[in-house]
Amino acid sequence: MEEARRWLEEASRIAVLTGAGISAESGVPTFRGAGGLWRQYRPEDLATPEAFARDPKTVWEWYVWRRKLISKAQPSAGHRALVELEERTPQFTLVTQNVDGLHDRAGSRNICKLHGDLWVVRCTACGRETWDGRTSFPELPPRCECGGLLRPAVVWFGEPLPPEAWQTAEEAMSAAEVALIVGTSAVVYPAAGLIPLAKQAGAKVIEVNLEATPYSGIVDKSFRGKAGEVLPQLV
Ligand code: OAD
Repeated sequence: MEEARRWLEEASRIAVLTGAGISAESGVPTFRGAGGLWRQYRPEDLATPEAFARDPKTVWEWYVWRRKLISKAQPSAGHRALVELEERTPQFTLVTQNVDGLHDRAGSRNICKLHGDLWVVRCTACGRETWDGRTSFPELPPRCECGGLLRPAVVWFGEPLPPEAWQTAEEAMSAAEVALIVGTSAVVYPAAGLIPLAKQAGAKVIEVNLEATPYSGIVDKSFRGKAGEVLPQLV
């Protein structure tokens, strides 16, 4: 722990990759593992462009349920520790796979959202994106002013990542002296590929997770514990 603390303290370039585990202590369910959403639901029914084309109402009902749940959640000690780390680090990038907006609400600034944002909607006809904080809608699926169907501006299975976010993430991970990987099962690509990328580019890699992941063996330090307990000790 002491050594990892020192790496984070001395680094001037830090990149962080977070996954659903950092929001678990806020009461937001993860996708895999005990209580995970993908144990209860099939991603192909809810999180693919085909599912949305077939049944946009059902897909939207699931997103409205998540909006309600997340709107009642508060950022955790893990989210807050990353804000503190950002404030004292000259170059800091927070790459997240999460779409819940809890990093924004905690006060993180330089956030790179690889999988989009559940609080943004995109028109499937005109392409316009707008922030939309509603937790209920007069009709589902909601429609754009132009009449087109709105969809959540998130990345579904089979869709490419936003190119700019991906480029920012790759650059940050390649340039980082320390890469901190928090609460991700590290099985969803291309995001998980950022871990070996950082390692190969020479970063010291620190992992914080309740369980071992496919990359636990190649990282420099692997802490098994809750993000909300380990991160405040590391920062
Ligand atoms: P997962 O649900 O796959 O993994 C969550 C990870 O967090 C697991 O490895 C848990 O062991 C760990 N974990 C749980 N609670 C924790 C805690 N309190 N502290 C630390 N770790 C904890 O979530 P992601 O890796 O984020 O994709 O999943 C990646 C992508 O798959 C998501 O972005 C989503 C999903 O399908 C899209 O929406 C495109």
